[in-house]
Amino acid sequence: MVNLFLRVVRRREDGYHDLASLFHVIDLGDDMQFTQLPAGATSDKLVCSDPTIPHDDSNLVIKALNLFRRKTGVQAFFEVTLEKRVPHGAGLGGGSGNAATTLYAANELTGRPATNAQLLEWSGDIGSDISVFFSNGAAYCTGRGEVVDDVPPPLPLATPLLLVKPPVGLSTPMIFKSLDLGRRSTADPLQLLAGMTNAGKISPELCVNDLEQPAFDNLPELLQLKQRLIKEGGSAFDAVFMTGSGSTIVCVGDDTAPQFLSEEQYQQLFVSPARLIVRQPGAWYEHSSKAAAPAAVPAAAAAAAS
Ligand code: C5P
Repeated sequence: MVNLFLRVVRRREDGYHDLASLFHVIDLGDDMQFTQLPAGATSDKLVCSDPTIPHDDSNLVIKALNLFRRKTGVQAFFEVTLEKRVPHGAGLGGGSGNAATTLYAANELTGRPATNAQLLEWSGDIGSDISVFFSNGAAYCTGRGEVVDDVPPPLPLATPLLLVKPPVGLSTPMIFKSLDLGRRSTADPLQLLAGMTNAGKISPELCVNDLEQPAFDNLPELLQLKQRLIKEGGSAFDAVFMTGSGSTIVCVGDDTAPQFLSEEQYQQLFVSPARLIVRQPGAWYEHSSKAAAPAAVPAAAAAAAS
């Protein structure tokens, strides 16, 4: 998922921040497979392509399954395979997409004990930006990020995006902590939303992200990368901005990597084209590579959009 704009409204007493942000799900996602384990199973099994990801209760997939059982009372356990494609510390909500996909799949596989609205509400207990996945794919989010209002997609879904992320990721708590409230934008988030929706096009002035300041202070190379993308991307990009707490820079309007990214110093960058996506009511998100496949996502397999 990407944040087309992200305003930080205030610092709260519980350590979180109230946001006002336009989130959009994108087609870059991890692959997940779910199988319900036979009756008598007493724990879940998680098989992940990335050995650095914890397999215990701190994993968002396991947290989502524990939450699902606690809320529904359904004592089902699952084997989950997770093939990671979305980089960590990227501001792309990779882990959040995994958690949302897990809630959706567990609910499907156990005969839908919960409604979409319940899954959305419950998901706020384990993370701030999981709930958005239970929208249609485009949502204006407030509170910690878990108060979700569906909006019509502000841009044509065919709009090409290019995601560019340096190898170093950024820690979300650290970025929020080093935000200087005095250096935030003063733009009214509802005007940013109206500006994007009415124009059907975005411009740099609309793509405000208050977390760019702490991210760029912590990682000056990220600011340089953004500036080069603006300068050397030429007129190809309508807007270039950071998503979430970074460190991914989103370029809107073209998905061709500018020539300078082939320089030696940028060889370790994650560079990927992407598209904005929505989901059909009742269905889940699909990968771009599966766009040509039959429309229905099988209950046992789900593409975890990010
Ligand atoms: O909710 P989530 O686990 O995704 O948040 C990770 C961390 O990011 C929080 O512990 C908090 O430090 C920071 N955060 C915040 N305000 C938000 C969302 C996250 O300060 N709205």
